[in-house]
Amino acid sequence: MGGHAARNSAVLARRAFFVLNPGPMTSRHATAALLCALAASGTAWALDLHRERSSPDDLALTGSLAGVPAGETRYARWSELRALPTAELKLDGEFVKGPQSLTVVFLSDLWKALPVAPGSDTILATCEDGYTSVFTPGFISTYRPFLVLEINGKGPRDWPPKGLDYNPGPYVITVSAELVPAVARYRDVEHKKPWGVTTLEVASYADRFKPVFSGVWASLSPATSDGREIWINSCASCHEGPLGIFGGTKAARPFQVIAAYAAFDRPFFMNYVRDPNSLVPCAKMEPHPHYTDAELAGLIAFITAGRQ
Ligand code: HEC
Repeated sequence: MGGHAARNSAVLARRAFFVLNPGPMTSRHATAALLCALAASGTAWALDLHRERSSPDDLALTGSLAGVPAGETRYARWSELRALPTAELKLDGEFVKGPQSLTVVFLSDLWKALPVAPGSDTILATCEDGYTSVFTPGFISTYRPFLVLEINGKGPRDWPPKGLDYNPGPYVITVSAELVPAVARYRDVEHKKPWGVTTLEVASYADRFKPVFSGVWASLSPATSDGREIWINSCASCHEGPLGIFGGTKAARPFQVIAAYAAFDRPFFMNYVRDPNSLVPCAKMEPHPHYTDAELAGLIAFITAGRQ
């Protein structure tokens, strides 16, 4: 596991790049060519789910899977994912400089290949460094996220691709403004680009996030429920939320610590969220300089409602 620390900090730096340099990314995307061709036929397919892991490149699957007892994990092999209907995307600058070809499975197609239990609608991704990402049905249909299987014809065994200074494998999920222009306007879209994905959980959004839609959070003002959206879609990538809702462990800070800052030191909280390095030079948290005062007020209202 020795190489992980270096890659994880590279991942943080890379994620921050998306926040800090929206200009160049957008203009590069605008001029780039895109080619998308379905490479597989429309025949019915289904993924085999294995009880045992066969390789580090297996994708772990958990959650509401028909025929799989709660709490158990199943594994899909890379070669089996590669045999699903894939698309070949020609994108510019996504992983390496210049034009590149990505072999991908759209999450909507992956969903069709999984034995999802009735009532499930959401994919929850977890990375080996404890980073997480939420893909709701609305996000999947509007922004068309995809699982990357190959970069320029090479799979995770040959990653990182030449010119990339961290290893994005075993799996990356991402979205592209070249494919869906609205991606460029999605708030904190870099949180929908998790690298190092090892596990996908199939879940019911209403069940998994129920604690923050009931009790003190049952009826929130529009601003506070927008704060809840920010928490679930951005902060929860690294931070565990209240009452066991889905979230990352990367930050290694209990929710009550975050809530205490939000309640008792509002200026510190706001400055830390916008620009952690201005307060703590060695802070690893990524900056969110684009949040408005109203967004931060909603976020604070959501978080402090959960102080016990
Ligand atoms: C990329 C991962 C990541 C994301 C996303 C993230 N954080 Fe953090 N956060 C961290 C880490 C790691 C720390 C620990 C201190 C450090 O290294 O910055 C931290 C620390 C903090 C702290 C200071 C607490 C302390 O004990 O130092 C606050 C407050 C905080 N985060 C709030 C938030 C909020 C609110 C969001 C969402 C807008 C958020 N964080 C998003 C990783 C993240």
